Amino acid sequence: MGKKRVLSGVQPTGNLHLGNYLGAIRNWVAGQSEYENFFCVVDLHAITVPHNPESLAEDTYTIAALYLACGIDLAHATIFVQSHVSAHSELAWLLNCVTPLNWLQDMIQFKEKAVKQGENVSTGLLDYPVLMAADILLYQADKVPVGEDQKQHLELTRDIAARFNHQFGKKKEPVLKLPEPLIRGEGARVMSLTDGTKKMSKSDPSELSRINLLDSPDTIAKKIKRCKTDLPKGLVFDDPERPECHNLLTIYMLVSGKTKEEVAAECADMGWGQFKPVLTEATIAALQPIQEKYHALMQEPGYLEGVLRQGREKASAIANETLTKVKVALGYSLPV
Ligand code: TYM
Repeated sequence: MGKKRVLSGVQPTGNLHLGNYLGAIRNWVAGQSEYENFFCVVDLHAITVPHNPESLAEDTYTIAALYLACGIDLAHATIFVQSHVSAHSELAWLLNCVTPLNWLQDMIQFKEKAVKQGENVSTGLLDYPVLMAADILLYQADKVPVGEDQKQHLELTRDIAARFNHQFGKKKEPVLKLPEPLIRGEGARVMSLTDGTKKMSKSDPSELSRINLLDSPDTIAKKIKRCKTDLPKGLVFDDPERPECHNLLTIYMLVSGKTKEEVAAECADMGWGQFKPVLTEATIAALQPIQEKYHALMQEPGYLEGVLRQGREKASAIANETLTKVKVALGYSLPV
């Protein structure tokens, strides 16, 4: 039997931050040899909120380079850009026509983002999860490694696939495979440095709220120095009254590679003044090899283009096969 297939992606809106890395990409890397992997840069999703055309292409390349710098291995994975494979937009349209409108109106992320945008909410923002379902279903993915915030979108993806199969599949042979989310407990929800009750996010207007993977050591030190803390003495996990404390200890645990027990014992008697330099050092050390590899990759002209060209070819072949199956199931005549 062949390997199970994985698909996941990140939007090229701004820089990748520790939440993206600890919640998603680190897990892609850890599991990659077990699966046949497809990792895309979801640039079509990036325009569902106001975006900067001047930087979209560059941001897309940056994210693809960061996948490699974080340890994605081309021996196990295909890296490609969503907009380079036209089947994504095409399947999204076809799935739009089987997705009830109220399923989309119920999505938490839509409601949150829509509130922030007032009157400027695009149809694309509402439709975002259908495009995400198309990304996953085109590859007949078995598993989708993501952070906690994407759970509802994956449930919707399964619902859309099940509805399509029910309406248009032949009973014994479903057209679309129902994917499973792969959400790791630790790191699945990294919180903001300025408010431990809010998710670390690219869209937070405050740069101090997140650590970006390409931040310099000085910037990392500054952000950790200024992050929100609290008054009680001693640092502990899992105290609901101390969300910042839990978040910072979790980040430390993940960037240092120590166990929860080791971190709990090490930090039990510490104050913030003692802990912050320790966290700073561990974060800088964890990001240094990623940054070095990233800068080396960016020095090699044409390398990334080659990776993405090959990725597009491999991804297109699989995606087009599924698209054809879907069109046949819907009753389309295919071009001859
Ligand atoms: P995006 O770009 O917002 O986030 C990329 C990945 O990072 C995870 N993540 C976090 N994990 C832990 N803590 C955080 N604070 C945090 N912030 C973000 C996200 O869960 C995600 O795994 N809709 C997706 C992009 C997408 C996609 C797909 C993902 C489009 N098509 C198909 C998987 C499969 C998103 O918003 O990514």
